[in-house]
Amino acid sequence: MKRLLPALLLLAWLLPARAAEDVPFVVTPDNVTQAMVHLANIGPEDYVIDLGSGDGRIVIAAAKRGARGLGIEIVPDLVEKSRANAKAAGVASRAFFREQDLFKTDLAPASVITMYLLPEVNLQLRPKILQLRPGTRIVSHDWDMGEWQPDKSLTVDAPDKPIGREKSSKLFLWIVPARVQGDYCGTGKAKGTELRLAQEFQRFRGQLNRAGESIGFEGRIAGSTISSPKNLNFFVEGDKLRVQAINKKYSQYHRALFTKQRGSSC
Ligand SMILES: C[S@@+](CC[C@H](N)C(=O)[O-])C[C@H]1O[C@@H](n2cnc3c(N)ncnc32)[C@H](O)[C@@H]1O
Repeated sequence: MKRLLPALLLLAWLLPARAAEDVPFVVTPDNVTQAMVHLANIGPEDYVIDLGSGDGRIVIAAAKRGARGLGIEIVPDLVEKSRANAKAAGVASRAFFREQDLFKTDLAPASVITMYLLPEVNLQLRPKILQLRPGTRIVSHDWDMGEWQPDKSLTVDAPDKPIGREKSSKLFLWIVPARVQGDYCGTGKAKGTELRLAQEFQRFRGQLNRAGESIGFEGRIAGSTISSPKNLNFFVEGDKLRVQAINKKYSQYHRALFTKQRGSSC
């Protein structure tokens, strides 16, 4: 054995190190999987990425609703099992699985991202998620995203939950907001009007300034739509904002276009 030890140490050093899991494998119960798919409103036009896909159940459930899906999983046996499960469910042409570290995964193609991870892992992923295409839906089982409040949340009975004393699961939905923070200048009929937007996740405060007069408003950003209870709304068009003034009070701005301010003023 003494003579074997150096050879074993050399072998261990030569073999590629297996990446360690950041989260242990725990399944989402079937009824909770269905609730996640429902909360994300997954349909045939979606491309779903499940981060840490375990035995593949979320991607398979999405594929059964006609979506295409990719499960990212670091444990090779689980990847194999997922492929077999997808085949058995008859959705292997739409449900794919890749052995990969979720932190090294390109999330840009997803229209929906699902995850059952841990609070600190969600927080590590948050900056990357916030850079995704506006409108991308994110559904997380049990764990939130810190100060980024969910757009929707619900609690589901989970009698088959393998962990925890409370047999229930929390589900959270976020819709990635457009990144609109900044100062804008009105064009056309809004020429001479300055728009300032301050953004915190999907909430914003805005100010329209024209000839010494100022209108303040605030509200929410859902994907590329910026809406306020004052019915003074904006749609993101590339790096420009188009006004939709449902409120007659602001009709002078209806359909006006605002462009990002280049210098220090409009
Ligand atoms: C709590 S389980 C969730 C499984 C499945 N998504 C579900 O809801 O049933 C988390 C999964 O993430 C995987 N995982 C942990 N760290 C990972 C990493 N860095 N990259 C990819 N997968 C990882 C684990 O192996 C495990 O299968």
